[in-house]
Amino acid sequence: MGMRGGPGQFRLDQYDVQLTKVDPKLYRRLFAFVRPYIGRLVSGILLMAVTAISGLVGPYLVQMAIDGFIKTKQPEGLNWIALAFLATAFLNWWTSYGQTYIVSWVGQTIVYDMRDRMFRHLQKQNFRFFDSMATGRIMSRLTSDVDAINQVVSSGLVTIFADSMVLVTIMVTMLQMNWRLALVSFLTIPVLMLVMKWFTNRMRKAFMQQRRKSADLVATLAESIDGVRVTQSFTREEKNQGQFNEINEQNRQASMEAVSVWAMFFPSIEVVSSMGITLVLWYSGVLIRGGAPDVTVGQVTAFILYLNRFFMPIRDLSQVYNVFQAAIVSAERVFEVLDRVPEVQDAPDAYEMPRAAGAVTFENVAFGYNPDKIVLQGINLTARPGETIALVGPTGAGKSSVINLLARFYDPQGGRVLVDGHDIRKVTQYSWRSQLGVVLQDTFLFSGTVRDNIRYGRPAATDAEVEAAAKAVGADEFIARMPQGYDTPVNERGSKLSVGQRQLIAFARALCADPALLILDEATSNIDTYTEALIQNALKTLLKGRTSFVIAHRLSTIRSADRIFFIDDGQVVEEGTHEELLAKGGRYADLYLGQFRALEEAAAG
Ligand SMILES: Nc1ncnc2c1ncn2[C@@H]1O[C@H](COP(=O)(O)OP(=O)(O)OP(=O)(O)O)[C@@H](O)[C@H]1O
Ligand SMILES: [Mg+2]
Repeated sequence: MGMRGGPGQFRLDQYDVQLTKVDPKLYRRLFAFVRPYIGRLVSGILLMAVTAISGLVGPYLVQMAIDGFIKTKQPEGLNWIALAFLATAFLNWWTSYGQTYIVSWVGQTIVYDMRDRMFRHLQKQNFRFFDSMATGRIMSRLTSDVDAINQVVSSGLVTIFADSMVLVTIMVTMLQMNWRLALVSFLTIPVLMLVMKWFTNRMRKAFMQQRRKSADLVATLAESIDGVRVTQSFTREEKNQGQFNEINEQNRQASMEAVSVWAMFFPSIEVVSSMGITLVLWYSGVLIRGGAPDVTVGQVTAFILYLNRFFMPIRDLSQVYNVFQAAIVSAERVFEVLDRVPEVQDAPDAYEMPRAAGAVTFENVAFGYNPDKIVLQGINLTARPGETIALVGPTGAGKSSVINLLARFYDPQGGRVLVDGHDIRKVTQYSWRSQLGVVLQDTFLFSGTVRDNIRYGRPAATDAEVEAAAKAVGADEFIARMPQGYDTPVNERGSKLSVGQRQLIAFARALCADPALLILDEATSNIDTYTEALIQNALKTLLKGRTSFVIAHRLSTIRSADRIFFIDDGQVVEEGTHEELLAKGGRYADLYLGQFRALEEAAAG
């Protein structure tokens, strides 16, 4: 039934897991997804029963027609048979449709529910979760794993119920028509089992290999597309083409191997089926020669018709195991996502943080992404409301980690982060983060229009507010030059915009949300002097009147900061204003003298 189709649909033993080892709790949890729809599922299964039986009435009617009316020359009876034939055809038509519709509805609704739960859960996960799981892996859990579970509902259950019913009904009908003939035809069942076992093994290997190769192909392709700019700049096209062709060829071979096994499968089953018919014909001859009175033309005809329908259910039933196996492995992976407890959570007694004035204190904060590798220690820093704090230091020093803690993307292992005296672990995440504006190093724009992107942090902002924000940061000019102005679509990640333009839109986005506190991880990339000037002005607007933490790379930003914290190796090593730190002649002074003065002089000509 549901499992016929090309090699692509073949889901043999995706993973090597034994069903016997499955934790029964897993079935219970899976069943929880089915429970709300159990009524519909049962009605679907009842319809299947009717479909299965009505599909088998045909050969029986043929036997009745031949033995009861044709041989006895009673043509009036044939009209009734013809009517009954037509009636069962219509019944079968209606119940088949209903059965498929209902069962698919249940399957698709479960898929919807599962994805809904998973997406909700994903959005609650903290950065550490995404640190530990690659995008591709998360995506495959929401797509193919959920589909594999759906297979159980929409094809596995159908197969078990409908095919078993077909099988039992055929066998009972055959036995009841002519038990000797029936037993002889059943002799082919072991042969069929052997043939299937042989194919199943070969197909499992071939299809696993094929899946692996096609995963390689997709991975290579994805990397090549993402990296095409680097490839072309280093003129690696030829070499990449070679690598790609090799994987492409391996994929072709694996697919051909799988297809050639698959191509043999149906014809082989046909042969076994014909062997059954051969046996029936031969044995009928034996019985007739032996003078057995009870073999009729109608029976032999009906047997041949039944044998044609006998093998598909057996074949499908033998594959149900694999569907279940794949689903169980997928279910484990789905629940692994659903069971991940977000590490940063609202405390049970968390309260709403009132609108913050913006006094920030780090009290002896210690933190590591992995508990055994400390990244920050003994961090003490304070910002008074409205101050601009610049974080400066070498790469890998821990600057981004400081702001990750401030935004509560991670919780520290030691110490506290206070905002207006509220420990940010004691307030709700929502009430804190909704007061934050964050502009990260790598500006992320979402697909949608420029306007949608600026409005991202405050969907209720009016068009006028969006435009005012853009104007305030000086982004209105280039936006006005775009083909559809604010309604110009931005493709994924804003790749059609320049780095500077993306920054300005990110600034407008932050300003539009009007946060109490701003976090800015300044982009290091060089931008043209015109945009640079725009960005400097934009920053002034953005920083005005709110506490800001800026990981600064621009000298102008650093200099205009109220206080500078020099961070090295996870510690604050110096603190003060630009002038104070220069006078001190320490690490900051070294950095300034070594790096920025040269730039300044160059700029001055
Ligand atoms: N997600 C993460 N998981 C594990 N370790 C991390 C992670 N992010 C950063 N680190 C490590 O933490 C340390 C501090 O990194 P951080 O990103 O805070 O540096 P940074 O000062 O912002 O550097 P840069 O100026 O290059 O942005 C580094 O040793 C880095 O390898
Ligand atoms: Mg950083």
